[in-house]
Amino acid sequence: MSNTFVIKGTGGERKLHGTVRIAGAKNAALKAIAATVLFRDTVTLTNIPEINDALRMFDLLKDMGGDVSSKKTGSYEVFIPNELATEITPSIAKRMRASVVLTGPVLARYGEVSFPHPGGCVIGARPLDLFVSGFEKMGAKVLMKEDSYVVSAKSGLVGAEIFLKNQSVTVTETFMMAGVLAIGTTVIKNAAMEPEILHLAQFLNKCGAKISGAGTPTITIKGGKLLSAKGHIYKTMPDRIEAGSFLVLGALLARELHITNCNPLHLESPIEILRSAGVAIEIKKTEIIVRAPSHLEPVDIKTHEYPGFPTDLQAPMTVLLTQAEGDSTVFETIFEGRLNYTEELSAMGASITVMDPHRVLVRGKTELHGRKLTSPDLRAGLAFVIAAIVAKGESVIHNVDSTIDRGYEDVESRLRAIGVDIERAEIVPETTAITI
Ligand code: EPU
Repeated sequence: MSNTFVIKGTGGERKLHGTVRIAGAKNAALKAIAATVLFRDTVTLTNIPEINDALRMFDLLKDMGGDVSSKKTGSYEVFIPNELATEITPSIAKRMRASVVLTGPVLARYGEVSFPHPGGCVIGARPLDLFVSGFEKMGAKVLMKEDSYVVSAKSGLVGAEIFLKNQSVTVTETFMMAGVLAIGTTVIKNAAMEPEILHLAQFLNKCGAKISGAGTPTITIKGGKLLSAKGHIYKTMPDRIEAGSFLVLGALLARELHITNCNPLHLESPIEILRSAGVAIEIKKTEIIVRAPSHLEPVDIKTHEYPGFPTDLQAPMTVLLTQAEGDSTVFETIFEGRLNYTEELSAMGASITVMDPHRVLVRGKTELHGRKLTSPDLRAGLAFVIAAIVAKGESVIHNVDSTIDRGYEDVESRLRAIGVDIERAEIVPETTAITI
């Protein structure tokens, strides 16, 4: 059985109205779960989104011998003992790229770690070279087997200077965590600057880590002992990608949409771009209010590391551009496979020309028609939901459990509350149907 969404489109009518509360950030929570390995005592994690990726990350810790319990929704207690299996369970890790961040803390604390080449969303090549070279710089031996890696540093990791040839969020976080238990000082240069990295560093520092420069291109970590969470509770920051996606939906179809419990400072680039497309946006401290304009202007977007336009919002933004009046270009600079979904938008009626694997031209405004869609990854999946809400007629989106559910907590209830006609249904996928 597979979960699908059945959505009856609005045909472009600007009628959505109400309030959407933003959940904890997936890409912050997953790293906080991995960071519990750096602690000698129990860590309480709160505002963890109830999404498949977070549950899988907890499963990994449990499989390795960690103690994970939850007394209330979104709140977890994690204790990692002095003895832990150091193999990151391949069956789980292969399905989730973010599992790779566990390698840093596990190697730093236990002197070894093994893991498969991780899987996750199909958005392009996902190399591990920066992980491998960083571990080697910190004194570890890396053995590459057919589809797995065995890394060992029996006498402990040593601080090193690590220059990242590409800014990567997970690589930055992995070495920031490894540096916390390494001997001496680690310096990460050309580090990623996403707000989730600063958020993680701030929590670790409260608990005894010595990290400076997080949120800038140079992060310095003075190594020390295991951390203690005594007196500190981790609260996941709001999900800026979820907030940005609802912002796009509001810009397309809302009479008035209040996006609450978010941090507008994390969305400066998308807000500027939407404003230049003619969208009225009001900003409060933890809330954004958006109204759809009578017509949208075309804009060119180029994805970039933070604080630039996030690649994770590229697909929802492209849906918006199909409704703008004129030509827009979308330049995806981070992942070369992250424009493949535009084929499905074209099949819905959009006019999208692929210029090369990184660039498309979107000619608007075009009417979209409901159809059957299969989502290639979680961000494109949510973009299909938005496209289906804009479209005329009914759409059926397949693969919800392996894509959208990985990153968005109970998205259908929140959409229904603002006027979207969306239902979840369980169906037997056509490709596996048995014919007698
Ligand atoms: N890269 C390398 N070598 C490496 C690792 C990465 O060259 O060893 C390159 C990649 O090819 C890519 C860039 O560095 O060009 C970033 O790639 P990576 O896969 O490492 O991305 P990430 O930084 O780990 C995080 C988010 C992604 C988000 C990107 C960009 C998590 C778990 N994932 O990935 O989120 O798109 O940053 O902001 O934090 C998502 O949530 O849907 C998602 C894909």
